[in-house]
Amino acid sequence: MQKPFTWGVAAASYQVEGRLPNDARGDCVWDMFSHEPGFTRLRQNGRSACMHVERYKEDCKLMGELGIDAYRLSISWPRVFPNGTGQINEQGLAFYDKLVDELLQNNVAPWITLFHWDYPYQLFLQGGWLNPDSPKWFADYAQVIADKLSDRVNHWFTLNEPQCFIHLGHAVAEHAPGLKLGFKEVLTAAHNCLLAHGHGVQILRNAAKGECKIGAAPVGKITIPADTSPQSIEAARNHMFAIDELNTWSNTWFGDPMLLGHYPEDGLAKFEEFLPQMGTDDLKTICQPIDFYGANIYTAEKIKANSNGQTEMINPLDGDKYTSMDWHAIEDCLYWGSRFFYDRYKLPVIITENGMANNDWVNVDGEVLDPQRIDYLKRHLGELHKAQLDGVPIEGYFQWSIMDNFEWAWGHDRRFGLIHVDYQTQVRTPKSSYYWYRDMIKDDKANG
Ligand code: GCO
Repeated sequence: MQKPFTWGVAAASYQVEGRLPNDARGDCVWDMFSHEPGFTRLRQNGRSACMHVERYKEDCKLMGELGIDAYRLSISWPRVFPNGTGQINEQGLAFYDKLVDELLQNNVAPWITLFHWDYPYQLFLQGGWLNPDSPKWFADYAQVIADKLSDRVNHWFTLNEPQCFIHLGHAVAEHAPGLKLGFKEVLTAAHNCLLAHGHGVQILRNAAKGECKIGAAPVGKITIPADTSPQSIEAARNHMFAIDELNTWSNTWFGDPMLLGHYPEDGLAKFEEFLPQMGTDDLKTICQPIDFYGANIYTAEKIKANSNGQTEMINPLDGDKYTSMDWHAIEDCLYWGSRFFYDRYKLPVIITENGMANNDWVNVDGEVLDPQRIDYLKRHLGELHKAQLDGVPIEGYFQWSIMDNFEWAWGHDRRFGLIHVDYQTQVRTPKSSYYWYRDMIKDDKANG
């Protein structure tokens, strides 16, 4: 890859950490949601996950041996503030202090996401993201983390995938906190988390004790052209940035306010009767300069412009490649996704998540062979490189995920890791993709 380039892996607090006996971490919305029947598979939860809180040294060593530059991790807000605000859990904060040191000792830079969905349950009881104080709660939390870690942490993300936790969590009840709010409330929650992002960026910048690079890590639909005619390319781009349904599963509803300082016109028109109350300076607060566009990209849909100039969605072909999430494996998602994001937002792109779930197990010889994942990575990285060669400044790639972990509503059933985790014993077994990724990174570094 062209330099500068950061090779990494990613994971998130609730998905890997687990809880020690007598752990003072407060509950998060996922702890409560997973107790309810019918939400997560077999009512699985993150109570033990990968017991990373206990095994973090072993995990950091495996990351060091992988030869990555960086690990994208998230902080559990209720581990630091059991009630979301107020009293700090010093032991919880100390865990991140030790984790950061351990990573650095293994030559892995910590890239920290402040919020990856484990919202403090006590704040949910006060209205959560609907409460007008919610951006301030987030800001106070961000301040504590920045003060504690910014002497050693230089890369930050505010929110992971607001599209997901707002839409899946607040509109359709597929994720915690399991709400089906009216659309006006959904947009209010979305606006408050955008404000939280803006405050978070200001705080990280002001508190930084060293170099400070900040991004967000949104997700959204990726549409790619089915052929390379200029018409199909424009049709795919327009579709990727269009708001044509009454929901917040959108790149622009979050990206435009953060980066362009306004909500997108088509969304304002479509959502007109549901718009939340906004303060006069809100968009100024939300639109803070950031350093890169973090994109979580796993799959895409294909689009073409037909001979009448109309846009047509192209269905996958029989026999196409699908992952265990039933997501279409379609490698040019990284080429077009990063290119379209760069064209629109003019920021260097970091692929903050990409990877696949596969039905992996430890074979009779003690190995985990996952050739599909190797193939997925080869194909996707090839497309990413192609985008670089075509002038898109792509500065990093974070494979999701370093290890199998708690995959939200799917519980432990979907395995995304480069390292296999046995959930009964917590034994870690690097898969063949781990060794492939290690060797590929080594070669890439050796080649300049
Ligand atoms: C997301 C989250 C991750 C997931 C991963 C696989 O994108 O949903 O950021 O926490 O585990 O994407 O679904």
